[in-house]
Amino acid sequence: MTIETVQREPGAAPRPQEAPPVGLPIGILAELTHRCPLRCPYCSNPLELERREAELDTATWKRVLSEAAALGILHVHLSGGEPTARPDLVELTAHCAAEGLYTNLITSGIGRASGMIGALADAGLDHVQVSLQGATAETGDHIGGYKGGHAAKLEFAKQVTDLGLPLTVNAVIHRGNIHEVEAIIDLAVALKARRLEVAHTQYYGWAYANRAALMPARPDVDRSVALVEAARKRLEGVLVIDMVIPDYYARYPKPCSGGWGRRTLNVTPTGRVLPCHAAESIPNLEFWNVREHALGDVWRSSPAFNAFRGTAWMSEPCRSCERREMDFGGCRCQAMALLGDASATDPACAKSPFHARVEALANSEAAAVPPDYIYRTIGGAPTVRTEGA
Ligand code: SF4
Ligand code: FES
Repeated sequence: MTIETVQREPGAAPRPQEAPPVGLPIGILAELTHRCPLRCPYCSNPLELERREAELDTATWKRVLSEAAALGILHVHLSGGEPTARPDLVELTAHCAAEGLYTNLITSGIGRASGMIGALADAGLDHVQVSLQGATAETGDHIGGYKGGHAAKLEFAKQVTDLGLPLTVNAVIHRGNIHEVEAIIDLAVALKARRLEVAHTQYYGWAYANRAALMPARPDVDRSVALVEAARKRLEGVLVIDMVIPDYYARYPKPCSGGWGRRTLNVTPTGRVLPCHAAESIPNLEFWNVREHALGDVWRSSPAFNAFRGTAWMSEPCRSCERREMDFGGCRCQAMALLGDASATDPACAKSPFHARVEALANSEAAAVPPDYIYRTIGGAPTVRTEGA
């Protein structure tokens, strides 16, 4: 559901502007594949997933990763989809290590992950982030649409820490698991994770389609924030807990991706380079592809990266706001999704004229009976899978 606005024609191209100064990126999200055994209803990947046949080959990824190192990038997030679906993941990880890049594997812990983790550690993998969909098998398997998935994740997490690799647990929180936040914190400690991300769902991509099923009620959100704050004190020196609060109930938006084109870039499985993972939801942006352009050229000169860089593109209230270089106007993709105008102030911001309507929308969705999840799938009808099947 989009909130009606009169600001600009929906889908209009960003206003032409002078190119702002460009710093250096510090991180790259390498989305190696969109293939994934899980079906999470909050998936932030695009609605149209890219198919295996169109994915970049090993040589191209190696060239891109070398270009990333030459650009001064420090961190590579090997992600997906499920990155262990790529048989060349060990080779790519070894290549990153040889280039001096710090590698973080972002994985579901399901499928080939268990069989591959030893070789990945030997190849020089630095860090693992595993997702949990809940604190129990009942919740986790239902949300991920994968029977046996939760147990497989716990086993995988144990393998990671037994190998001496640092582990982060990522839990995307929503109406279906918000009652388990405390148990998720306890589970992260039991798994010997060093860091836990309690990340309330961001409503882009597939999550936007499932928003009515996922939107938590305000009192439950407040309770989850209080639980995290108490746990941070209790677990100081044991577990670091990061928290992302739900935008729809926020006072100010987050600086999405650290600001558009400021710190990171995403490379999709087929090689398009995006300023953030949902950027393709904004019409009329021109994305360059690593098949035709060097990464440094994309970073400096790609029209998509320059569209919302800096502050010159902003209109009021952002243009004259004292926070404009703190949050960079919030999330462009959220402004697009909710207002049909990617250059509008993120309506998560209390200064947006549409903020009250966003909050009212969240409250009314959270008060209604939730619809069933729409599970995602690459082609074909959605099904529930089983570990080992
Ligand atoms: Fe951020 Fe714009 Fe809101 Fe100011 S008005 S706090 S810059 S989103
Ligand atoms: Fe694209 Fe926030 S997800 S700017």
